[in-house]
Amino acid sequence: MKTFKPHHHQFSTLFFFLLFFPFLNSQTARQENNTGYTCTTTKNQTNHYPCQSYAFYRATSPNYLDLATISDLFSLSRLAISKPSNISSPSTPLLPNQPLLIPITCSCNFINTTFGSISYSNINYTIKPKDTFFIVSTITFQNLTTYPSVEIVNPNIVATNLSIGDNVVVPIFCKCPNKIKNNSTFMISYVVQPSDNVSSIALMFGATEKSIVEVNGDKLYDYDTIFIPVDKLPILKQPRTVVVPSSAPSGNFNDGGDSDD
Ligand SMILES: *[C@@H]1O[C@H](CO)[C@@H](O)[C@H](O)[C@H]1NC(C)=O
Ligand SMILES: *[C@@H]1O[C@H](CO)[C@@H](O)[C@H](O)[C@H]1NC(C)=O
Ligand SMILES: *[C@@H]1O[C@H](CO)[C@@H](O)[C@H](O)[C@H]1NC(C)=O
Ligand SMILES: *[C@@H]1O[C@H](CO)[C@@H](O)[C@H](O)[C@H]1NC(C)=O
Ligand SMILES: *[C@@H]1O[C@H](CO)[C@@H](O)[C@H](O)[C@H]1NC(C)=O
Ligand SMILES: *[C@@H]1O[C@H](CO)[C@@H](O)[C@H](O)[C@H]1NC(C)=O
Ligand SMILES: *[C@@H]1O[C@H](CO)[C@@H](O)[C@H](O)[C@H]1NC(C)=O
Ligand SMILES: *[C@@H]1O[C@H](CO)[C@@H](O)[C@H](O)[C@H]1NC(C)=O
Ligand SMILES: *[C@@H]1O[C@H](CO)[C@@H](O)[C@H](O)[C@H]1NC(C)=O
Ligand SMILES: *[C@@H]1O[C@H](CO)[C@@H](O)[C@H](O)[C@H]1NC(C)=O
Repeated sequence: MKTFKPHHHQFSTLFFFLLFFPFLNSQTARQENNTGYTCTTTKNQTNHYPCQSYAFYRATSPNYLDLATISDLFSLSRLAISKPSNISSPSTPLLPNQPLLIPITCSCNFINTTFGSISYSNINYTIKPKDTFFIVSTITFQNLTTYPSVEIVNPNIVATNLSIGDNVVVPIFCKCPNKIKNNSTFMISYVVQPSDNVSSIALMFGATEKSIVEVNGDKLYDYDTIFIPVDKLPILKQPRTVVVPSSAPSGNFNDGGDSDD
């Protein structure tokens, strides 16, 4: 497909390409088959559960553009998110796509003997109008989980019969590090974006390409959750917030000391 010399095979080649390319590239298929990341809870485990870790989440329009809403979604305080995310004022509205680091507790959760255990952080979520497990996993939680995994951790809820107000557990994918190998490492849960590659992800998190490949393999798939091993939190570059002119009397300018959460 490098040259487009017109000859009689071109149409069939293009046709073949258009016919099969979307299937070869289908990302939904991977999510459909991803019931979660397995872990072991034996005494001699290599990865030590539970652990503190972080999930990379982006502010999104229209519903998740402030820390109050996002911290409610993850049952956290605004400060718990603003501090690791390099945001100085927790009450300032966020911009679409603004990056956040959400602290989560990662545990290894036993499902049953045939299925085994999967690692995730338990997030309580209340079903809203028009929600499906697919919408909750791909939109609300930005593919940090998948709907097959949501189904597995909520065996008593019928996915096709959700009612507004139902409480479900959303399993945010995570992984704990191998403490024998490295004591100070933790893993940031990150959803691969179509524009990403291993080197751009390594740069964004201050991780090495080698360590990312060691944990996740050398092929990354769009919208899969991967785990970025780091020794310290990356310092997120935040968009500049509105600066209050120093001459202005600003008695009500505070860093989120108000108590709406
Ligand atoms: C997903 O699972 C189905 C059924 O097991 C299988 O046919 C399909 O190839 C799988 N897709 C991927 C991308 O693994
Ligand atoms: C733990 O696992 C390692 C490597 O898999 C093995 O060499 C070691 O003997 C195991 N220790 C115990 C107590 O089972
Ligand atoms: C989630 O809900 C369960 C059961 O309803 C409760 O035990 C747990 O404390 C809740 N977790 C959070 C983080 O609110
Ligand atoms: C989640 O993944 C799906 C592909 O299965 C994609 O269409 C969707 O845009 C992704 N969600 C986000 C927030 O990126
Ligand atoms: C174990 O869990 C899986 C996933 O939810 C389920 O499909 C399977 O039926 C369960 N097996 C048993 C023996 O309960
Ligand atoms: C659907 O959910 C409603 C309310 O929870 C319940 O009354 C009904 O029996 C359910 N139907 C099925 C087919 O599970
Ligand atoms: C492991 O720990 C060492 C020493 O603390 C550190 O220099 C190194 O970057 C860590 N390796 C990884 C993969 O995080
Ligand atoms: C791991 O960390 C603990 C305390 O943080 C330290 O005492 C210990 O020596 C470290 N172990 C290794 C193998 O680095
Ligand atoms: C990875 O992505 C970055 C930014 O999108 C780009 O500049 C770079 O050329 C890419 N590297 C490779 C090896 O594809
Ligand atoms: C926080 O974000 C700002 C704006 O992108 C950046 O200049 C700064 O270096 C970041 N780090 C810290 C520690 O403030």
